[in-house]
Amino acid sequence: MNILVTGAAGYIGSHACKRLLKDGHSVVALDNLLRGHRAPMDLLAARAGGRLTFLDRDVNDTPALEEVLKRHRVESVMHFAALAAVGESVQQPLLYYRNNVAGMVSLLEACDATGVSRLVFSSSCSTYGQPPERLVPIPETCPQHPISPYGRTKLMGEHLLADYAHGQRLAGRPFAHAALRYFNVAGADLEGELGEDHSPETHLIPVVLHAALGRRDGVDIFGVDYPTPDGTCIRDYIHVDDLVDAHVAVLGALKPGDGLAFNLGIGRGFSVRQVIRAACAVTRTEIPTREGPRRPGDPPRLFADPAAIQRTLGWSAKVTDLHRIIESAWAWFRAHPNGYRSG
Ligand code: UFG
Repeated sequence: MNILVTGAAGYIGSHACKRLLKDGHSVVALDNLLRGHRAPMDLLAARAGGRLTFLDRDVNDTPALEEVLKRHRVESVMHFAALAAVGESVQQPLLYYRNNVAGMVSLLEACDATGVSRLVFSSSCSTYGQPPERLVPIPETCPQHPISPYGRTKLMGEHLLADYAHGQRLAGRPFAHAALRYFNVAGADLEGELGEDHSPETHLIPVVLHAALGRRDGVDIFGVDYPTPDGTCIRDYIHVDDLVDAHVAVLGALKPGDGLAFNLGIGRGFSVRQVIRAACAVTRTEIPTREGPRRPGDPPRLFADPAAIQRTLGWSAKVTDLHRIIESAWAWFRAHPNGYRSG
């Protein structure tokens, strides 16, 4: 199949490109390189035998998208392109609405103009906001009340898809789509070639591993007085290769006119202290920690009820051991202590 991957040079997009190429697909990899990296694209293109075309373009460039969809006879889209830092979205909301919401409008306009009728969208568990404790583990039916601009842009993306698909149905042109609500994506390519390289880095596992490498002097624990067994927040960490595997399963199962939404998580949570302890064991390092105040907007416990995708598609996460998730990230960081700049 010919597949457009937007945000292809980012953390998740690059892992998706690798998997799609392995499965024999042809990939048009689009990224504006605002946050993505050229290195993984070059690495994958070098052995793709012409099946990977990298394009340095923005999803807001609708004419360029139309041209790309036509020229490469694209049949399906995996839409990862987005900004994804919650704190930044609070400070620069327009940047988020421009990239995440206007970007989706532009992509759908291009799909409309060229007849592309299948799309899988990176949504987020942040669309649920702070669900009541009785709804954790979180099912897809949990009310979506995001509490950050980032979460709202992802929910708007879901609404845009549903409304667009409805219009297409009325016009007799069924459009199939799926919104995949990610929990905490973590780890790195199990073959060690691709990894996570954000700047600045704010996610817990890479922050902890940067501290183990000596790239920072320690880890701040954001809140130790939560109503959880050890007082720190609990999250559902899903390995990036499992996440990509779910995208492949969903894309393969989409039938004309489908509108699906699935949570992607392993279905259990680990606390911040558990993550740090596991990272100390994996890296054989004493990672210094500082107990600090809560970070605004962090709910105490968030983890998925992943039963729907398991029931519907038979998908479940394979890497459920926190140590293995951290080991995969650690292997990449050790080989690339300065991220993709390490060469
Ligand atoms: N944490 C720390 N210290 C740090 C970093 C994080 O204690 O230096 C804590 C946080 O307070 C939170 C947990 O570790 O309790 C995980 O934090 P992350 O920042 O790694 O992840 P979040 O759960 O806040 O959010 C992530 C992404 C969002 C996305 C969300 C759900 O950052 O983009 O998962 O998909 F929306």
